Amino acid sequence: MPGNSNCVVKDSGAQDNDSVQKYYDNTDTDEFYFRIWGGEDLHLAFYDKPLEEQDIRKTSTKAVQWLSRLLYNKGALQQGAFGIDLGAGYGGSARFLCSTYGVHIDCVNISEWQNRRNVEITESAGLADLLKVYLGSFTDLPCEPDRYNFAWCEEALIHSPDKLKVFQEAYRVLKKGGFFLLTDPLQKEISHEELVPILERAHLVDMGSRERYREYARRCGFELLEEIDCPQALVDTYGRVKMELEKQGKQLAEEGLCSVAFQEKMKAGLQRWVDAGQQGKLTWTVFLFQKK
Ligand SMILES: C[S@@+](CC[C@H](N)C(=O)[O-])C[C@H]1O[C@@H](n2cnc3c(N)ncnc32)[C@H](O)[C@@H]1O
Repeated sequence: MPGNSNCVVKDSGAQDNDSVQKYYDNTDTDEFYFRIWGGEDLHLAFYDKPLEEQDIRKTSTKAVQWLSRLLYNKGALQQGAFGIDLGAGYGGSARFLCSTYGVHIDCVNISEWQNRRNVEITESAGLADLLKVYLGSFTDLPCEPDRYNFAWCEEALIHSPDKLKVFQEAYRVLKKGGFFLLTDPLQKEISHEELVPILERAHLVDMGSRERYREYARRCGFELLEEIDCPQALVDTYGRVKMELEKQGKQLAEEGLCSVAFQEKMKAGLQRWVDAGQQGKLTWTVFLFQKK
């Protein structure tokens, strides 16, 4: 990674992922994720019931806290350790790790809008010396091999049309013995016809599965240390987010932040994910791999 400043650097991989950038870098999507999801995180979490009493932001942070223990228990989060966040969103997870454990994190993200917010929030949190933000693609990481103690990829691999390449890149940039923490929504038994409208919500090309990720990891040379399947988190998170959009939607539309058409499409899409989760056709899984 170039330099030490908290700058945003463009790299060649960015061109390969125009459709992801187009999905995230517009007012409708950015304001939806930023306002509805709480402004720090864009990932799944564990909700208690009743759902409407659970704050999305606080619940998201608790999930990061829980995930980070998986790395901490392996000794990967010692003060001064180096990590990379692949598809870092607004940087909420990376900030949590930096502020809690004193680790350094390079956030790589293809979304310029999210990177701008990440830089801004990180600077006001006084964490700019620990957290750097880079514009680039996780299929072509702008950094040298064997650099990091851990890699973190939370709900981001789902966007990649070349998921094996992301595993290969994570493997390349990790030190020997380094850890790769990966979480993603995954498909289970589901037909192509059922999957297509589900993928549509976030302009996805396909979806991984537990078997596929295990196989990619094995091919790269990772050892699987943990695999924790949490299907209810998928149902609850998308259900809770839809509820929040229903609550705040009118206001967002009135402020010109999120169009009614976008909201209607998003609500229908979220409901499809909830239904498929309830029917056992989608799940959310946490993996911890180690580079051997
Ligand atoms: C659902 S969000 C998750 C964000 C973050 N990991 C979190 O949990 O808050 C997916 C993220 O993946 C990023 N992303 C998608 N494709 C990418 C690529 N090829 N390279 C880097 N980031 C990518 C998106 O820009 C977005 O930030």
